[in-house]
Amino acid sequence: MNNFWSDLASRGPISALAPMDGYTDSPYRQIVKSIAPETVVFSEFYSADGLVHSKELQRRALTHNPKEYPLIIQIFWKDPLIFAEAAKIIEGYGITGIDINMGCPAKKVVKSGHGSSLMINRDTAFKIVEEMAKAVKIPVSVKTRLGWEDHSLLIDFVKWLENAGASLISVHGRTYKQAFTGKADFTGIYSLKQNITIPVICNGDIESFDDGLSKIIHPEGQKNLDGFMIGRASFGNPWCFLPGNFEPTLGEILDIMWKHGELLWNCKERKGMMEARKHLVQYLHGFPGVKEYRNLLVHVESPEDINSILEKIKIEHTNLLNQKMSQNTTEIEKINWNCAID
Ligand SMILES: Cc1cc2nc3c(=O)[nH]c(=O)nc-3n(C[C@H](O)[C@H](O)[C@H](O)COP(=O)(O)O)c2cc1C
Repeated sequence: MNNFWSDLASRGPISALAPMDGYTDSPYRQIVKSIAPETVVFSEFYSADGLVHSKELQRRALTHNPKEYPLIIQIFWKDPLIFAEAAKIIEGYGITGIDINMGCPAKKVVKSGHGSSLMINRDTAFKIVEEMAKAVKIPVSVKTRLGWEDHSLLIDFVKWLENAGASLISVHGRTYKQAFTGKADFTGIYSLKQNITIPVICNGDIESFDDGLSKIIHPEGQKNLDGFMIGRASFGNPWCFLPGNFEPTLGEILDIMWKHGELLWNCKERKGMMEARKHLVQYLHGFPGVKEYRNLLVHVESPEDINSILEKIKIEHTNLLNQKMSQNTTEIEKINWNCAID
């Protein structure tokens, strides 16, 4: 089995950007890495079948900047041989590792036998991991949830995946049934860690690097988890991957907004500007008088538009440029994966 994940875990807790459809594209990952270079970044999920059959999707999904390493590409599907084919293509692009989605609760994904439904189709889940681990040299990992309705089957399921050749498991501390409701619960994840040898990463409602460090500690002094993954709290706040609850100044925020917009333009041109809108407004969470600028940001069509809004903010708030801004995440919590996909 590839030792990438266990070697990384032996050097200290793993801090990772969670895979998020519609968010964790190459520009987003580059922004996170430019601020917190130690972060392991996971891509949005891509259909394994799509990657096998579409050169255009391969180009779009797999083109990356080496600054993103270690870069993990996440894929979903249900046919083990298609997974193996896709894995070879991903490996050919020089990607660090491949993650299999066994946690997506979106109706159309589950109905087709992908995502979360693999938690209750263990034979298929096993074969997928086995075929992929045979097909490539890069590490194969799995991201899943606590279980379908509760976490009673988590340990058995993950042992099964470990035997098939998975070298890391990330667990979102909610069940399929919960989707995004309630609070993430890590009890089952701590028990899992005591029972398997591959590294375990926890995920769900983690707000920052320091919060992640506190969550990986076993409450009763048994083995700690190997790392944590942050998703929604990173929207407009890539600084959440820095230790010490880092608060950027307004000037730093504006610089990163420009860089993010520029990367999106370079990568996707006009389409990138449509996507830039949702990212840019999130950077101004903690900023007073944000409404006026939001209204402008949701209409940007070019890097010039972005530049003129950022210049306007600089001129109108020169006195705040060196002031630290707290990144409030209350609005972020409203966004969930079901609504993003369905
Ligand atoms: C908009 C959005 C898109 C997501 N897309 C994916 C995905 O492609 N693959 C995946 O495994 N999880 C996906 N998730 C789930 C996240 O990776 C993560 O498990 C979840 O958001 C809980 O972590 P958080 O509380 O830190 O956000 C997505 C979540 C959101 C909010």
